Amino acid sequence: MKRKLLVPILVVFATILTITSSFYFINVFINEKNIDTLDHALKSVIDLQASAVYNGYFAWTKLYDLAVQGDLTGAYDLAKDIKNEFPLIDSVEIDQGPPPPENYVVTLDGELLRIEYAIRDDIEVNTAPDTYAVTIIQAIKLLNFIAPNEYRIDTAKGRKSAYGIPIVARTTLFSAPNILIISVISILIIWILLQRYYKKSSFNLDMRGLESIIYLFEQTEKASASHSRNVAILALFIGKLLKFSRQRLKNLYVAAILHDIGKIGIPTNIITKTGKLDPREYSQMKQHPVISARILNSFKQFDRLSDIVLYHHEREDSSGYPEGLKGKDIPLESKIIAVADVFEALVGERPYRNPIHPSSAFEKMKQMPLDQHIVAILVEHYGELGSFKPPKWVLSYSPWMFSA
Ligand SMILES: [Fe+2]
Repeated sequence: MKRKLLVPILVVFATILTITSSFYFINVFINEKNIDTLDHALKSVIDLQASAVYNGYFAWTKLYDLAVQGDLTGAYDLAKDIKNEFPLIDSVEIDQGPPPPENYVVTLDGELLRIEYAIRDDIEVNTAPDTYAVTIIQAIKLLNFIAPNEYRIDTAKGRKSAYGIPIVARTTLFSAPNILIISVISILIIWILLQRYYKKSSFNLDMRGLESIIYLFEQTEKASASHSRNVAILALFIGKLLKFSRQRLKNLYVAAILHDIGKIGIPTNIITKTGKLDPREYSQMKQHPVISARILNSFKQFDRLSDIVLYHHEREDSSGYPEGLKGKDIPLESKIIAVADVFEALVGERPYRNPIHPSSAFEKMKQMPLDQHIVAILVEHYGELGSFKPPKWVLSYSPWMFSA
């Protein structure tokens, strides 16, 4: 029970963690990009404003003359209108001191932007020698002017933007829209992953269940108890030589494991009979591929394999059963299982005869209406079978039921 819950819990946590961290990095990336754009906008607004203030007020002979005469109050009276013209500007001052080397110089003082202006005449040839003007703007006002409520000033953690203004995005990872998107994506991915997990678990469970039935059934005929597993490994070996894809190999393996499951529908006295079957018994025996296919059809996970098991006794010259198909109409997987089945039957232990040596078995098989291309592949590579390592997903390579 604990193990059954562990995988879904891990899937839920891993998905939420992955989606949230992806969102975090996307968020950081988008914010960085936005601050880059904001940086340009901020600089432009500050420079345009400073330039407009300079040209409108501080390159003005009337104000210049008052400044040169030392009448700072008179000069201020002319300049105080700036606050009405430019609402972002909080205060204006005319002070004594060395003028800035440029028309204006912008500096940041905490969260305040301080813009110092030189005071010049109309033609900008003469500069008042010991006087300068200052306008102060709150940086947050500028930010809200450009992008209302999207950013804040943070002198400790903010990223330095235009003229060093430290900016942080107000949007957080856990804002309501982000939580909604993270939840929807997580639920969708968790649903897909768990569907896949349960489908796979159910496939394995059905597989183990059917395998156990085959094992129990084969116990009635001790000598061939591992027949299906041997056929499946042989089929897998041939499928690998034919370069089957992973999924096709899995299908082949499962079909080979279950190819004779229909024998549970045949009377035991016919299955265990060591002598020749009479015509009525033989006709009953020939029904086992049909029953195998019917059983697989009743499991959603295996129904696509039913044709493979249905035709595993068909032969190239149409002498097989149940439908007497010709070679070209028989599925390749059925032909492989047929070759593996005949070979295993010939070399395996049986109560009514001694096992045949593989080389004799191959000679016999060369005379049979089996697919001779597959027989030739098995003959050529038989020596490699001992070192063949089946894939990890093979359930019954070592007969696990014996160890129970
Ligand atoms: Fe069979």
